[in-house]
Amino acid sequence: MKIILAITGASGVSLAQKFVASLPPKTEVFIIQSQNAKTVFKKEENIEVLDDADIAAKVASGSFKCDAMIVLPCSMNTLAKISSGICDNLTTRTASVMIKEQRKLILAPREMPFSAIALENMLKLARLQVIIAPPILGYYSNPSTLGDMEDFLIGKWFDLIGIEHTLFKRWGER
Ligand SMILES: Cc1cc2nc3c(=O)[nH]c(=O)nc-3n(C[C@H](O)[C@H](O)[C@H](O)COP(=O)(O)O)c2cc1C
Repeated sequence: MKIILAITGASGVSLAQKFVASLPPKTEVFIIQSQNAKTVFKKEENIEVLDDADIAAKVASGSFKCDAMIVLPCSMNTLAKISSGICDNLTTRTASVMIKEQRKLILAPREMPFSAIALENMLKLARLQVIIAPPILGYYSNPSTLGDMEDFLIGKWFDLIGIEHTLFKRWGER
């Protein structure tokens, strides 16, 4: 499976690191970091870190086949750009390609509370089949640590992408 992970300058960048660490070993990951997301990923096999300024990178082409793209965390800035079709960096360009090619695009917008502008941007994108999946906790998995809570969120994103996992107990599971 090939996944594009774009990391923008919202709170919760550590979730993106844990997301990558929890992926099955054979997953190919292409990471785009915005200038405002300062996390540095260690170069590992199957992980390619791309420069957000390089709009000519291979993931920006409709001919690049991938299973899903997730923007995690997604800043309100990047959300607004994607919803208005702005393609001024590799993240926004790749997201616009995912939309035009009707491929799976997941946004994890991180802000609290959401303004009416952000909500309108999300609604517009949801109507284009973009999946809006913010880091919102569910308590039915009985989390007791921050790690459990993060596992729940990552498990929800994995479910949306179609990645098998045992990161949390499902409703009704013992
Ligand atoms: C410490 C810090 C935390 C931030 N957290 C958020 C956040 O949770 N959500 C958000 O939308 N913007 C947040 N911002 C603002 C964004 O980083 C800013 O709007 C930036 O322009 C986003 O750029 P990008 O979308 O290219 O990453 C934060 C900024 C700082 C300095």
